[in-house]
Amino acid sequence: MGLFFILNLSYILHMENNFTKNFENTVKTSYSEFGKEGKELKNWGIAKYKGKPIEFYSDPTFIKEYFSDPILDHLKEKKIDPSKTLELVDFGGGDGVLISTLLKQLKDEDYNNIHGLNIDYTLKNLEKMKQSFTGEDKINMVQADITELPIKNNSVDIATSRHVIQYFGKKDQIQFLRNIFDSLKSESFFAMKWPGANNPEQSQILTDFYAKTFAICTGESSEKVAENKYFTSYQEVEKIVKDIGFKIINSGKCSAELGITAEGFFDRFNLTDEQKKDIKNIFENFYEQYKDHSDVFEMTKDENDTIYIIQHHNYMHLEKGPKFNFVEIEEKQFNYDDQGFVEFGSVAMSLLEQQAQYASRYADDLDNDYPNLGEGLNIKGGCDNYRDMKIHKDDIVEFVKKVREYKENR
Ligand SMILES: C[S@@+](CC[C@H](N)C(=O)[O-])C[C@H]1O[C@@H](n2cnc3c(N)ncnc32)[C@H](O)[C@@H]1O
Repeated sequence: MGLFFILNLSYILHMENNFTKNFENTVKTSYSEFGKEGKELKNWGIAKYKGKPIEFYSDPTFIKEYFSDPILDHLKEKKIDPSKTLELVDFGGGDGVLISTLLKQLKDEDYNNIHGLNIDYTLKNLEKMKQSFTGEDKINMVQADITELPIKNNSVDIATSRHVIQYFGKKDQIQFLRNIFDSLKSESFFAMKWPGANNPEQSQILTDFYAKTFAICTGESSEKVAENKYFTSYQEVEKIVKDIGFKIINSGKCSAELGITAEGFFDRFNLTDEQKKDIKNIFENFYEQYKDHSDVFEMTKDENDTIYIIQHHNYMHLEKGPKFNFVEIEEKQFNYDDQGFVEFGSVAMSLLEQQAQYASRYADDLDNDYPNLGEGLNIKGGCDNYRDMKIHKDDIVEFVKKVREYKENR
């Protein structure tokens, strides 16, 4: 059998597509280090936030506003006991600056049992993370591709992803978000943030701008960059997440503005004088084209003739809806007897996708290997005689919910 039949297709495609890996290797350092030296808006990694310059990747107040606080609100709203063990995964977490800050902030609020995992495929970033977090602060990390997740479905309580979606072309963005959805347990939370555009028209301009500049930095063609880096708009992400089944709890534009300048590119990449000159030219060209159209693309020039793109970021706080739509279950009609009972087997098959002989083990305490989730519910008969078991219509939703929850949290 040929190699094509042995390898799975996505793996082959992935092997051919080393764009992001190469791209990350051309970046001078890991992201949390940007902004530590240069302190001006024109430096890479400095943003203006509430009137002041901040280190865009590591500022704790900024992280708290868009990640920790919304996560805490969610945990409190769902009445999650702070002592419960929870799994938090940062998708494309880089050198771990977001996840480490987050875990500290959640710990300060007594959520002490959150396991953190960073999934990223750039070794350089993970090595930086290994140096930064040792001993008690240790956070798990996996070097893997987030389009081919190495983790189980329905296993994550909290997901985060910051500045990652633009690392994918349009089609892969859908796969990326679907993977996160699948990895989450139902009713769990996902916070994301990305350098976004206000609308699809602006996405095209941003994508074109970065395709041209990154082509110079990486030596790739601008077409190849554009295929692999799409600066998606709020509206496009909104459509994808809704189609996948997420519920948007909160969303908008972040209040920090990142200044993108040619000088910033010189901070981020090792460039020759020739490359620097080419990048300056691209800034000049875009500035000439858009200086009078800031509604289309926001660019300004300061008194020192430095040209800036004002890069906004979008955020979304999402919830994975319950796997089961309980309203639908309530509306589902069974053959009830005159006392409102239905055969247990019909409920098991249509709502739990299990035969009565298996689902009935959860309905009483006859089988020691299974919890009794039918306690207090109106169920006639027991699993020793599952063919004759019946459940009252008022208790179907409760029973189904308990079994689903138990299975998910196992
Ligand atoms: C701009 S950095 C952001 C890092 C981190 N999320 C933060 O906000 O500090 C983007 C990260 O996404 C990672 N990344 C991009 N595509 C990826 C993929 N397909 N699988 C795993 N990681 C990926 C890169 O390696 C890089 O570390």
